Amino acid sequence: MGFATDCIHAGQEPDPITGAVTVPIYQTSTYAQEGLGRHKGYEYARTHNLTRRSLERNLAALEGGTDAYCFASGLAATQAVLTFVGAGRRVVVSDNVYGGTHRLFTKILADYGVEFAFLDASDPEGFAGRAGRFDLLWIETPTNPLMKICDIAALAEVAHGQEALLVVDNTFMSPFFQRPLALGADVVVHSTTKFLNGHSDSVGGVAVVRDDRHGERLRFVQNAAGGILSPFDSWLVLRGTKTLHLRMPRHEENARVVAPFLSRHPKVGTVHWPGFPEHPNHEVHTRQATGFGAMISFDLGSVDAAGRFLEAVRLCTLGESLGGVETLVSHPATMTHAGYTQPERDALGISDGLVRISVGCEDADDLVSDLDQALAAI
Ligand SMILES: Cc1ncc(COP(=O)(O)O)c(C=O)c1O
Repeated sequence: MGFATDCIHAGQEPDPITGAVTVPIYQTSTYAQEGLGRHKGYEYARTHNLTRRSLERNLAALEGGTDAYCFASGLAATQAVLTFVGAGRRVVVSDNVYGGTHRLFTKILADYGVEFAFLDASDPEGFAGRAGRFDLLWIETPTNPLMKICDIAALAEVAHGQEALLVVDNTFMSPFFQRPLALGADVVVHSTTKFLNGHSDSVGGVAVVRDDRHGERLRFVQNAAGGILSPFDSWLVLRGTKTLHLRMPRHEENARVVAPFLSRHPKVGTVHWPGFPEHPNHEVHTRQATGFGAMISFDLGSVDAAGRFLEAVRLCTLGESLGGVETLVSHPATMTHAGYTQPERDALGISDGLVRISVGCEDADDLVSDLDQALAAI
């Protein structure tokens, strides 16, 4: 089936009892059993829930995986995948990943004896030498917030060359633009909170696999650790993915107007967006993705200028998160990436003047007018 058809139909059949076209919200904690050991395959809702299962099948189809497992947030999905490695294992992470991922790795999982190394993964050849031995490689591409691009196929080779796993956080691109499993990744993770849901009204996460052994492990973690996605949130994301194929082109169409506007503006410094031909890894991104997405970051030179701009926007909303139909602006240094120390942010190039914009689906002219008037305020 084509991508749009899968968005709308994969994992979903009319309800067998009523014929309801939309998968119902199975809001139950348990299921009646017919006798000891005799039941319809449903025992307890932490383990089995048909709304969640429909979403998992839908997301597996969209990412081209064999199965998917949904969790209560993107970070809960991340934590579940990290149970693939235990004490004494080494995880290499592309630098400038989402601050919450960095915080989970360095402030919680490191205490369990997992070693983490954060490296620039946008240069795969140099990377293989620098990385040394590792058991799991975790990348974002584009990275958050500097939009660095990592070559998924090349890094899959590096990882598999030493029997390590490659995990790709595909939140920024969504499977509409990029399907990492087809490029060799072993697991794809999303914060479904973002583009997959698309309406800024649900927090969730998913891990999609292509190897049944990884699926078995994640199914076990769902049940044994319990950080599952609720039936209602599953239903919301399922509703969101129905329009993913309509929203993503619109997000990008707007980004194609906003990014050049920002880069031409005299008050704006460097603009980070993989759609610019001069982006250092534009060619790699073009090879592995079908679009450039709607995440842009840009430098306003100082925290004061960034603050004045962020307070001056009217149509855009100052807020954490991304990927909704409404345009959101944020300040990585004090918001999404506050978990990094100042020296860590300085070393990565996440300056105090950096602003991130998640371009929504409004009229592009209205967005440009709003950004223009806000830039006039600094
Ligand atoms: C790229 C990326 N991955 C993961 C997460 C974590 O997702 P959640 O907030 O759903 O836990 C975020 C959140 O902003 C993110 O931007």
